[in-house]
Amino acid sequence: MKKELIFEGNEKRVYATENPDQVIFHFKDVMVAYNNVKRARLTGKGVVTNKISAFLLGYLNDCGIPTHFIKRIDEREQLCRKIEIIPLEVVFHNRMAGTLAAKLGVEDGFKPSNTIVDLCYNNDELGDPLVNSDQAVALSLASYDELEVMFSIAKRAGKLLSELFHKAGIELVDAKIEFGRASDSGQIIISDEISPDTCRLWDEQTGERFDKDRFRLDLGDIIPAYNLVLERLESI
Ligand code: C5P
Repeated sequence: MKKELIFEGNEKRVYATENPDQVIFHFKDVMVAYNNVKRARLTGKGVVTNKISAFLLGYLNDCGIPTHFIKRIDEREQLCRKIEIIPLEVVFHNRMAGTLAAKLGVEDGFKPSNTIVDLCYNNDELGDPLVNSDQAVALSLASYDELEVMFSIAKRAGKLLSELFHKAGIELVDAKIEFGRASDSGQIIISDEISPDTCRLWDEQTGERFDKDRFRLDLGDIIPAYNLVLERLESI
């Protein structure tokens, strides 16, 4: 049973439940970008991101990758394991796009022969800066052992998700993964969401973007693109 609100973010609410180790995630019809500078209300956004994230996190669970996701409750909500947030973001890149491409002066979509894994400090005031493991440990954000687990999970999840999206004719260009410590065991598990809000997803045939870049770059048709991602995943 849903109890008190324990967190309200831009795009989500988190509620307590009768079980101290479980929470309910509620997905709102709000989209934000560029460190919350750009924001919009988009009808249906919460429903489609809830469904896509439930699909992807459920798939990772089934593959033996630990995530906070337990089950989807309804159109907008999912039951999740309670975590202590680790304020770090692991971003893996199959291609260089967005911030990384701009920073390194390569064309947007440059495909290197390797996969790149970055670590960022999840801190809005600082603009989520890139950090290395030594800096993350120095700030007591995580231990070296925890970081090793996070990188290992992120790489395995990245490979699994890339293969899954490929079956849907979609290229996973990059993705951000967040982690937490499960409140019941301290286990490091994937938290938050994985969706077109947190990944770049390009059509394999046409290169068309099906992700939050449609919002960032004012390309329009955001919700139809998200719905198409869901349809293609569900038809695998
Ligand atoms: O913004 P940037 O180009 O670094 O984003 C890399 C990937 O991480 C993109 O898929 C983006 O949507 C995601 N990301 C995110 N949340 C952030 C920063 C990036 O989901 N705070």
